[in-house]
Amino acid sequence: MDGARLEKALREMGEVGATPSGGVSRLALSDADREARDLLVSWFRELSLDVKVDPIGNIFATRRGRDDSAPVVMGSHIDTVRDAGTFDGALGVLGALEVLRTLDVADVVTAKPVTVAVFTNEEGARFQPDMMGSMVFTGKLGVEEAYASRDDDGVTVGQELVRIGYRGEDSLTPSCYLELHVEQGPVLHSTGHKIGVVKGVQGIAWWHGCYVGQANHAGTTPIELRRDALLGASDLNVRLRALAEELGEATVATMGRLNPSPDVINVVPGRADFTVDFRQYAPRLFTEGKHRVEALVGEVAERHRLEWSLRQSADAQPVRFDDAMVDLVESKARELGLSYRRIPSGAGHDAQFMSYICPTAMVFVPSIDGRSHCREERTEPRDCENGARVLLECVLDLSA
Ligand code: GLV
Ligand code: MN
Ligand code: MN
Repeated sequence: MDGARLEKALREMGEVGATPSGGVSRLALSDADREARDLLVSWFRELSLDVKVDPIGNIFATRRGRDDSAPVVMGSHIDTVRDAGTFDGALGVLGALEVLRTLDVADVVTAKPVTVAVFTNEEGARFQPDMMGSMVFTGKLGVEEAYASRDDDGVTVGQELVRIGYRGEDSLTPSCYLELHVEQGPVLHSTGHKIGVVKGVQGIAWWHGCYVGQANHAGTTPIELRRDALLGASDLNVRLRALAEELGEATVATMGRLNPSPDVINVVPGRADFTVDFRQYAPRLFTEGKHRVEALVGEVAERHRLEWSLRQSADAQPVRFDDAMVDLVESKARELGLSYRRIPSGAGHDAQFMSYICPTAMVFVPSIDGRSHCREERTEPRDCENGARVLLECVLDLSA
């Protein structure tokens, strides 16, 4: 395995959609996403891989095996949130590419084929739900429903797939799935473990909400007569935090977007559009928390005399990965002499949905200071290489 080659691929991919501020913006199905896809496909073709694209734009690049059985699949995504770092998703795809490059250089012939999967719109930053490509692939979301998802400008997934030239007709049947990823949280970096053996992924629920009150003059409208939609949303935000703390067990809740209207300094906001992201690993608490969030939105609206609406835009259940696959990852980390620790994933991943259709596991590597979904996201080159090594060893076993 060539760590420098992996580092170079990460750097080159990180230049696609690079922003002047030092981050990268490759929102799903944007021009930057297309450019990144085209670059990847050119690298796949250099290895003479068989490249396929499915109806939701997932790319599958397969290296032939001795037989025609279902392939061992490794993968992740190359779309990003806005002003992101260069590792989230890209490491899983380019680590998988490095595995195939290594097999080629070493002239290894595997029994089963080995595939790199690149899933469409994992992030959900532009189109909801997130993990869209793997949801459609695993039958958890209808392709027509996915095509109809709109961004803030009203553009649909279906239109964008056609525009960037990645609406295909192929399919694939995996035998198992492995995803290498940066942890995106502080655990491995703070404990000094080199590899995270991922047990499963916590549940993720998203909502788009709206409070409507009454726009009015900021100087003349007495406090007690106001129906301030932004104040309501702010109150909701504070109460969401309190709810997460009350539920405990590492529950998290986030209001990532909050847009007041008319958004003018001397006008009481008559409307506020907001989002809620709620996560929890324990299935029962996840379900209870979702009900509590929905109830809270209504209670706060009443307190502030607001009208309200709420639309759920994602609902990914908590999952536990396949025991044998998780054990395999752990044994490979141990054999390579890398310190490891079993952890759940706080971030959503395509592996969450792949686990519904085939034995699945994930390999995490440390994120420096636990930073992610921001331009400061970093992972040491040596740690990227370690993760890819674990991936390679697992794939050699699984494809034998
Ligand atoms: C995806 O990256 C998520 O966890 O939001
Ligand atoms: Mn990711
Ligand atoms: Mn992400």
